[in-house]
Amino acid sequence: MTAPHDTRQLYDQSAADWRRNQPMLLSDYTARPFVMNLCAPVQGRSFLDLGCGEGYVSRQLADLQAGAIHGVDLSAEMIRQAHEQSTSVSGDTRLTYEAGDLRVWCPELKQKYDVVLAVFLFNYLTSQEMTRVLQLAFDSLRPEGTLIFTVPHPLLPWLRPHEFPFYFDADAGYFSGLNRQFQGQIWRRDRQAVHVQCVHKRFSDYFEALRTAGFSGLPEVHELTVTDEHLRIDPEFFTPLLDTPLHAAFRIQR
Ligand SMILES: C[S@@+](CC[C@H](N)C(=O)[O-])C[C@H]1O[C@@H](n2cnc3c(N)ncnc32)[C@H](O)[C@@H]1O
Repeated sequence: MTAPHDTRQLYDQSAADWRRNQPMLLSDYTARPFVMNLCAPVQGRSFLDLGCGEGYVSRQLADLQAGAIHGVDLSAEMIRQAHEQSTSVSGDTRLTYEAGDLRVWCPELKQKYDVVLAVFLFNYLTSQEMTRVLQLAFDSLRPEGTLIFTVPHPLLPWLRPHEFPFYFDADAGYFSGLNRQFQGQIWRRDRQAVHVQCVHKRFSDYFEALRTAGFSGLPEVHELTVTDEHLRIDPEFFTPLLDTPLHAAFRIQR
């Protein structure tokens, strides 16, 4: 089935495939636990979760006793599912959500945050759009606050065949493909494929955007792949990705 190129339409249509309270997608194993470690200590700290989807990461933060957590997402259906899960599952008033397009809109925030997160948001934005969102992140952070974000590894689209369990279809080169949207798929452990997109950016574009947005230090950068622990859990699922750079995680202080 061909997936929509429009991101809002894609996520409104596929929201049910993302809904989960346990690790399910490949990146729930290979990226999100690493992000949670970067967030530590979580207890009592406030989080702004940009591109929060149906709230998987926000709910994990709430379970770890975070303070206020506000999630923002383009897809009204993802936000509907996030609301549904926070009220029906935990009745948690620390979790709030709103829908909006961060390319053109800024949420009116009632407070500054200890941590701003963007878990696989920037692969939906061009360099210019990402810089705008990084400026919003900079302005939303307390003076010593931390920005954490993950993206697909910039080289991944050229390293993987078009097959299970993760790929992007690069129809241009590493340099000529800047800001081009590549279509891709990432699989769930139950072998169901989920459509994703990657607006290609190079490592240098992330550094440049951070600097333009006001972040003056050097970010920590982590290149993530499958580990021995993943192989023990499900060798058939994770072995095709062995030694492949899958994701990049960044952490920087304001
Ligand atoms: C790969 S999903 C990740 C969701 C969530 N962060 C997680 O880790 O489960 C990417 C999310 O980014 C959202 N998104 C994409 N473009 C956006 C935009 N311009 N403004 C706000 N959210 C956006 C999508 O709607 C989608 O829910």
